[in-house]
Amino acid sequence: MSTVLITGASGGIGYELAKLFARDHHNLILVARSADKLAQVAAELRPLGVTVKTFPLDLVPPPAAKFLCDQLQREGVGVDILINNAGFGVYGEFVQMPESEILSQIQLNITALTELTRLFLPSMVARRSGRIMNVASTAGFQPGPHMAVYYATKAYVISFSEAIANEVRETGVTVTCFCPGATHTGFAKRAGTEKSRIFKQFGGMSAGKVALDGYRAVMEGRTLAISGLHNWIIAESTRFAPRKMVTAVSRWVAEKIE
Ligand SMILES: NC(=O)c1ccc[n+]([C@@H]2O[C@H](COP(=O)([O-])OP(=O)(O)OC[C@H]3O[C@@H](n4cnc5c(N)ncnc54)[C@H](OP(=O)(O)O)[C@@H]3O)[C@@H](O)[C@H]2O)c1
Repeated sequence: MSTVLITGASGGIGYELAKLFARDHHNLILVARSADKLAQVAAELRPLGVTVKTFPLDLVPPPAAKFLCDQLQREGVGVDILINNAGFGVYGEFVQMPESEILSQIQLNITALTELTRLFLPSMVARRSGRIMNVASTAGFQPGPHMAVYYATKAYVISFSEAIANEVRETGVTVTCFCPGATHTGFAKRAGTEKSRIFKQFGGMSAGKVALDGYRAVMEGRTLAISGLHNWIIAESTRFAPRKMVTAVSRWVAEKIE
C-alpha cells in the first residue's frame, strides 16, 4: 500500500482527493490548519481500511514544510505520492492589499509547495518511483487584475511543475501540474470572489468532479492537466490572443456583479 500526503485535505478539492485515494486503498497523511475537520475526514475514511494520519499545521510560516518532513522522518513514515493542494487567493487591488495577505499567498501557494517538493523529490528519485501533483489553476495562464498576486502564484506553479517534470522524466518519478477552473469549494468565500462574474454568471464545477480529473491525471503521470473541456479551451485560447486583450478579458471575468 502506498502513502499519499495531501495538503489542504480538510475541505474542498483536497478532501475529495483524499476520498478517491482512500477508496483505492492508499494510506493517507492529511495536512491543513483545522484539526477538527481533519479528524472528521480521518474518521470518515478509516473504515475503508486505510491508515489515516492527520497533521494539523499552518503551512504559511516558512519552517512548516521542513517541520512536517522532519516529523514524518522521525516516525519512519515515507511518502510515495505528494499532493501539493493547499492554496488560497485574495480578491482586491494590489495597491490596497495588506502586506500579510500578499506574503501569505506567496508563502502558501509558492514557497510551501516548492519546499515540500524539494524535501520529498530526492527520495522518490533515489527509489526510482513516486508521484507529485501540484495544484495550480487556470488562473495561471493569464495575468489577473483584481487578484494579481494569486494569478501570478499559479503561473509560477505551472512553470515550476512543467520544468521539474521535464528534469525527472527518466527517473521513474512523475510530476503533474493540475489546473482546476472555478470550482464550488470554500475557496471563493475566503477569496471574496463569490460575487465575481466567473462564479455568479459562468458557474463552477463540483469539487468531486474536479478531484476525479486530478486523481486520474496524477495516476496517469500526465505533466499538465486542465479540469473541464471549457476550461481547457479558455486556457489554450490565451496563447493565440493578444496579451492586452487576454488581460482585459481576465479583468472582466473577475469583476464583481450584482
Ligand atoms: N475553488 C476554485 O475555484 C479553485 C480554482 C482553481 C484552483 N484552485 C486551487 O485548488 C486548491 C484547493 O482549493 P479549494 O478550492 O479546495 O479551496 P478550499 O475549499 O478553501 O480548501 C483549501 C484547503 O487548504 C487548506 N489551507 C488553507 N490555508 C492553509 C494553510 N495556511 N496551511 C495549511 N493548509 C491550508 C484548507 O484547510 P484549513 O482552512 O483547515 O487550513 C483547506 O483544506 C488551491 O490550491 C486553489 O488555489 C481552486
